[in-house]
Amino acid sequence: MSIRKLRISDIEALHRLFADVSAEGEFLLRAEAPPIEPMRAMLLRALPLNLPQFVADSEGELVGSIEIFPASFCQQGDDSGEDFGLLGMQVLKAHRGQGLGGLLMEAALEQCLQLGMPRVDLTVLKSNLPAIRLYERFDFLWVEDLPPVTLPNGRPDQPQKMRLRLV
Ligand SMILES: CC(C)(COP(=O)(O)OP(=O)(O)OC[C@H]1O[C@@H](n2cnc3c(N)ncnc32)[C@H](O)[C@@H]1OP(=O)(O)O)[C@@H](O)C(=O)NCCC(=O)NCCS
Repeated sequence: MSIRKLRISDIEALHRLFADVSAEGEFLLRAEAPPIEPMRAMLLRALPLNLPQFVADSEGELVGSIEIFPASFCQQGDDSGEDFGLLGMQVLKAHRGQGLGGLLMEAALEQCLQLGMPRVDLTVLKSNLPAIRLYERFDFLWVEDLPPVTLPNGRPDQPQKMRLRLV
């Protein structure tokens, strides 16, 4: 198993990973991966910027990924004046609970520090106890509850924003 930077040649495997996790219908608001062409365009835009994007590679199989994009990159800034990071991550179901999420997080946060990102924000569902456990292990703190949602599997849930301050 290795944790390495994402490469453009990973795009199909990354799209499959997003599709598999989205299809679970449990953790994300979408039941399908975003279309592959916009994903490819975004990666082509992100890769030269050397943003924190890492994958877990198990003998050539992409089994996990993390991305922390600056809010300005996603056009999702707030009125803080800070160009903070927005985190997303996913590990294939069969590979969860073995520490891969933690390894991906370590690699990505290390690069956030190098880039001088002031903070990292994320949104997570309150039902997603493994993810919240992981985020709390890395000292992310609850910021606020967001409006309730209905998941693709029909279950109502409550998203919350969490934040890690880096500087
Ligand atoms: C969140 C996610 C990336 C974590 O990946 P992972 O490889 O399982 O992460 P780790 O193994 O490093 O850590 C998981 C932690 O959850 C804990 N955990 C597992 N099941 C749990 C449960 N039911 N309740 C509470 N904690 C639980 C594990 O014990 C571990 O904590 P520990 O290291 O303190 O023991 C993975 O669960 C995932 O891809 N989920 C689906 C997609 C998702 O939710 N993405 C995040 C959206 S905000």
